[in-house]
Amino acid sequence: MPDVDVLERLRLTAATCTRCPLAEGRTQVVFGVGDPGADLLFVGEGPGREEDLAGEPFVGRSGKLLDRLMWEEIGLTRAECYIANVVKCRPPNNRDPAPNEIEACRPYLAEQISIIDPSVIVTLGNFSTKLLLETTRGIRELRGQVFERGRARLLPTYHPAYVLRAGGEAMAEMRADLVRAKRLVAAGRA
Ligand code: URA
Repeated sequence: MPDVDVLERLRLTAATCTRCPLAEGRTQVVFGVGDPGADLLFVGEGPGREEDLAGEPFVGRSGKLLDRLMWEEIGLTRAECYIANVVKCRPPNNRDPAPNEIEACRPYLAEQISIIDPSVIVTLGNFSTKLLLETTRGIRELRGQVFERGRARLLPTYHPAYVLRAGGEAMAEMRADLVRAKRLVAAGRA
C-alpha cells in the first residue's frame, strides 16, 4: 500500500518550494494528481498556463487528448492512474525547462515514484524519458520500447502536445504504445 500521508507531506513541502527560479513566476506548484496506489504513472514535462492556474497537470488541450487516449486504449480515467511532471512549476512563456530547474525538481519526482511504486511508468516526450532513463537518446528512437527502471517497467511515448501537432501516424503510434502499457499493467498484476 502506498503511504498516502508521506505523499501528502511531500506535496505540502513542494507547495512552498523555492529551490529554483521557476518559483518566482508560478501561480502555484502543480504537484501531481491521481491515485497514490496506481499501477500506472504518467510523467510529462511541466505545467503550462492552464495547469499553473488549475494546480493540476494536463488540464489543457494536451491533457484532453491524454485523457481520451488513456480511456480509449487503456480503459482508465486520470483518477485511476497518477500523473506528474518533471518540473512542478510553469516555465515562463511555456519554454522548455532548463537543466538547473530539472535538477532542482528531480528529488520530488524521485520521491513520488518511490512512494507510489507503480509497476509501469509511461514517459511523455523527451524530457521525462531522458531524465528517467538517464539517456541522451531521443523519443523517436525510444518510444514503444520497454525498459527496466528499478521495480517498474518504463515505456516512453510521445508527448500529447506533439501528437496534437503531428497527428496521423504519431497518434497511431501513441495509441499503440498505450495498448502496450495496458498489457504491462495487466502482466504486473498477474
Ligand atoms: N504538458 C506537460 O508536460 N505537462 C502538463 O501538465 C501540461 C502540459
